[in-house]
Amino acid sequence: MTPSPLPRYPAFMSAPEPTAAPTGVAVRVRGACRVFRSAGEADVVAVDGVDLSIAAGEFVAILGPSGCGKSTLLRMIAGLEPLDAGDLGFGAGGGAPKNALAYVFQDAHLLPWRDVLANVALPLELQGRASGERRDAALRAIAAVGLADAARRHPAQLSGGMRMRVSLARALVTEPRLLLLDEPFAALDEITRQDLDDQLRALWAATGMTVLFVTHSIAEAAFLAERAVVLTRRPARVVLEHALDLPAQRDAALRGDARFAREMSVLYEALRRGNGKAA
Ligand SMILES: Nc1ncnc2c1ncn2[C@@H]1O[C@H](COP(=O)(O)OP(=O)(O)OP(=O)(O)O)[C@@H](O)[C@H]1O
Ligand SMILES: [Mg+2]
Repeated sequence: MTPSPLPRYPAFMSAPEPTAAPTGVAVRVRGACRVFRSAGEADVVAVDGVDLSIAAGEFVAILGPSGCGKSTLLRMIAGLEPLDAGDLGFGAGGGAPKNALAYVFQDAHLLPWRDVLANVALPLELQGRASGERRDAALRAIAAVGLADAARRHPAQLSGGMRMRVSLARALVTEPRLLLLDEPFAALDEITRQDLDDQLRALWAATGMTVLFVTHSIAEAAFLAERAVVLTRRPARVVLEHALDLPAQRDAALRGDARFAREMSVLYEALRRGNGKAA
């Protein structure tokens, strides 16, 4: 692991204004490193000196090859994984955003014995909120992901895409100011995935939350985000930070647009460089 000098930062929270009033939390990662050590095995350096500065209300995609350290980095930001070096800062004050962070995993992880409504209400139950308030907020979140008609169904009665919608609703129900998503739609077919991408982007625009979205799909990163951070193969280091020059209003037609193709090729070249391939 190379020691990483602390970088000089641009003014924190200086990225472009989102479309809605920002309610998001800013995130700053400085020199983040994570090494996994197991007795009798070589150390695995997963993340090596990553710096990120994410503005309040920004939508950032973190793109990198399989196994490069994307999940480890996201888990570090969520406080689920310690940092071996470096530090994290949130908002202007620097403290972790209490009750303001939600995490969406690759698998929906729903409780099979609970219906959609009860699954989505769970985080509010854990916060000790009153039952009427839980129900109203859960129904709002369920409607926001297009599942109003399925609130009383159980997970076994849902398709994979519907289950991921429930998982997204469960994350949204607490009105997070920072939403972290780890390849949430990777297992879905292309059309369902695009539907969910459309919906997530619309939800982001409506709320102004900060979104960090991990993916290994170039098209998904380009479609969703305001900015893409491309990581090298393991250990993850930043090879490119790129502001996507695309319209704020994004729809299916954009995916066939020449500007979209150009942005995808910029990300593709960076991924190749990060994998040690010649330009
Ligand atoms: N708890 C752990 N203990 C030991 N090694 C780990 C642990 N978690 C991750 N690793 C290793 O760290 C490296 C990065 O893993 P990580 O899951 O962050 O990659 P990723 O980019 O999310 O991959 P994928 O795209 O396949 O999800 C891998 O080599 C992995 O085996
Ligand atoms: Mg992962």
